[in-house]
Amino acid sequence: MVSGAVPLGLPVDGALADDVQGRLGFVEDLLLSSVRSDDALLAEASKHLMEAGGKRFRPMLVLLASHFGNPAAPGVIVAAVVVELTHLATLYHDDVMDEAVLRRGEVSANSRWTNTIAILTGDYLFARASDLLADLGPEAVRIQARTFARLVRGQIQETIGPGPDADPLKHYLQVVADKTASLIATSGQFGALMAGAPPHVVDTVTSACEKIGVAFQLSDDILDIASESHESGKTPGTDLREGIHTLPILHVLAAQDRRDRRLRELLRDTDLTDDALHAEALTLLRAHPAMDRARADLRRWTEDARTELGTLPDGPARAAFEALCDYVVSRTG
Ligand code: IPE
Ligand code: IPE
Ligand code: MG
Ligand code: MG
Repeated sequence: MVSGAVPLGLPVDGALADDVQGRLGFVEDLLLSSVRSDDALLAEASKHLMEAGGKRFRPMLVLLASHFGNPAAPGVIVAAVVVELTHLATLYHDDVMDEAVLRRGEVSANSRWTNTIAILTGDYLFARASDLLADLGPEAVRIQARTFARLVRGQIQETIGPGPDADPLKHYLQVVADKTASLIATSGQFGALMAGAPPHVVDTVTSACEKIGVAFQLSDDILDIASESHESGKTPGTDLREGIHTLPILHVLAAQDRRDRRLRELLRDTDLTDDALHAEALTLLRAHPAMDRARADLRRWTEDARTELGTLPDGPARAAFEALCDYVVSRTG
């Protein structure tokens, strides 16, 4: 049976969809109650992005992966809340680093308040996540700590960029894996682990989710160029403005095509904080074949994930993860 009831419109088994939908309600309740504070500003700033929307992609991965074991096992809902709190915290911090003004269709916390408030709110969310995590035991705490370390490494590597002798594409893929795939892999891992799935299933789900996570960030980077604010809830061309060379840009720079002279000049030598130059670069980039090359890379990552998913026990949970691969390729926001 197929149902469209699950978030993101995934075509998944009806009973699975109903279960995930129901549990996402519990996740939502616990998310909101976990960030209560007697400090009015902290409470307000913590709720800001939570209430602004978001896809709840990572909690959904936890819940879907829990169907490889006992989805009603204690710890599944808490783990789903932990990964969304962690994700939220990174969004507060990321918007400071990227000087982003729009997030989830709302003004970012750093714009609404200040960088200081946004940083401290992110820290508070990390603290709340750790508090919940303590109930899940030392293994879960260690997994989360290592995920967090990878995330920070990815963000710092992105900030400093590739060294003079480094391969820029290799550097980029390492950044993407660390800053984004790490938490997406951990989401799948937590779901399967908390549900008591067999170790080889936990390992395969984790590894497939790592690939889905890389693909998820590749699509985020494509959307940063191709998508409008009303779809993404973010400002187009933020990476470009910050001088971050994402996959489509790396393809342009690697192509050595004489017809790209102007675009290469803009990308290489120009401060794209200037509005007119930024708009020119964005227009040239949107029309460039490098976008299709990046989309082909994205598809390859999801195909690799799919191959790995094929070794999991057949059933609605596996089919849902396969549908997620298609979603990551075709998503617009
Ligand atoms: C945005 O993540 C940050 C990335 C790692 C790409 P999402 O696209 O999952 O953002 P929300 O949670 O839906 O706002
Ligand atoms: C997001 O990277 C990664 C983390 C939040 C750790 P981006 O900076 O590319 O994400 P968006 O596009 O702002 O959501
Ligand atoms: Mg950003
Ligand atoms: Mg960023």
